[in-house]
Amino acid sequence: MNMLSKRALLQRMAAGALACAPVNAFAQQLRSSVSEANGVSLRQLAARRRLFYGCAANTSQLKDGDFAAALTREAGMLVAEYEMKRKTIERKRGRFDFRAGDALLAFATTHGMAFRGHTLVWHRSNPSWLEDVVNDTRDPKLLTNYVEAVAGHYKGRLHSWDVVNEAINPEDGRADGLRNSFWLKAFGPSYIDRAFHAARQADPKALLVYNDQGCEAGLPENDRFRAAVLKFLERALTRRVPIDALGLQGHLRAFGAQVDQKKLRAFLDEVKSLGLRILVSEHDVKDEGGPPDMSLRDKTAADTSRRFLDVVLGNSATIGVLTWGLSDRYLDRGWFGRQARALPLDAELRRKPMWQAIAGAFGA
Ligand code: XIL
Repeated sequence: MNMLSKRALLQRMAAGALACAPVNAFAQQLRSSVSEANGVSLRQLAARRRLFYGCAANTSQLKDGDFAAALTREAGMLVAEYEMKRKTIERKRGRFDFRAGDALLAFATTHGMAFRGHTLVWHRSNPSWLEDVVNDTRDPKLLTNYVEAVAGHYKGRLHSWDVVNEAINPEDGRADGLRNSFWLKAFGPSYIDRAFHAARQADPKALLVYNDQGCEAGLPENDRFRAAVLKFLERALTRRVPIDALGLQGHLRAFGAQVDQKKLRAFLDEVKSLGLRILVSEHDVKDEGGPPDMSLRDKTAADTSRRFLDVVLGNSATIGVLTWGLSDRYLDRGWFGRQARALPLDAELRRKPMWQAIAGAFGA
């Protein structure tokens, strides 16, 4: 049994119900605004279950008319793939550039889509000046001022924020399982608390998410990861850190370590028992190491996706699923490596077996 007092848990559940309201409102909005063109879409299938399906995108993709049409058909929510990371927003210290994020938000709003923020505090994708200044000055305003400025800029307009991303890494050897990042070295574990409190203060309406990867598969390292995430969440919630949801990135491998449905199901039950909601925030399925036969690779990737989503969507605390892109046309090969096919649509925007798998997990 976790350390949260029953009263605290009931308080969270009540608060959580309110925080869920945006999701229900979004689901209602999606149902009314989605066109029926091209048959049923993932956006519609998800909305029928009062959930959302969405994906990551960037502004250059919006210039591709066919892709933009597929995006508005299939996605009920968008998230910026990289253009709302600090490296893009605060390239130069103290100068904020919201143009790309604003353009993505405008596109989403125009097409009745929800929009979520990614990410306020991460150890990667930061401007070149940041880490040195943090290390030299140890000024916590370098963290809180940024969160206040960015979450404040989008106040009331986002479904949720990935407030802190990938702060856990048991392989770093700390008893608390936290990643020994420059943020932690400079400010201690409380940097996470500061980030969430600053985000809540800046945008009381947004759902605040702790986002990470590593909870999905069944290896011993994943066991350690799940245990560390639960320990972190229990302790943070006991300290009244305003975390509303856990974001499972969902980066899977078709021919690597497989999803352990039993372990994942038990883990997500524990997360739900803490009064948290759950979302899949960056789902894709790498097919590296697969056979030359593309149809076999696609089928294995689809089966991998379905096995994962059946467990996640089987938990009533789950509010939705986002994939880390919509089509293989725009795979970031620098990030994905030799990756050929990872997403629901192929490079010609045709639905792949992975699309069918996601549709099936939503109950099609
Ligand atoms: C990646 C993007 O896809 C790249 O375009 C960017 O250069 C770096 O970040 N986990 C995350 C995402 O939380 O932000 C990462 O996205 C993928 C891994």
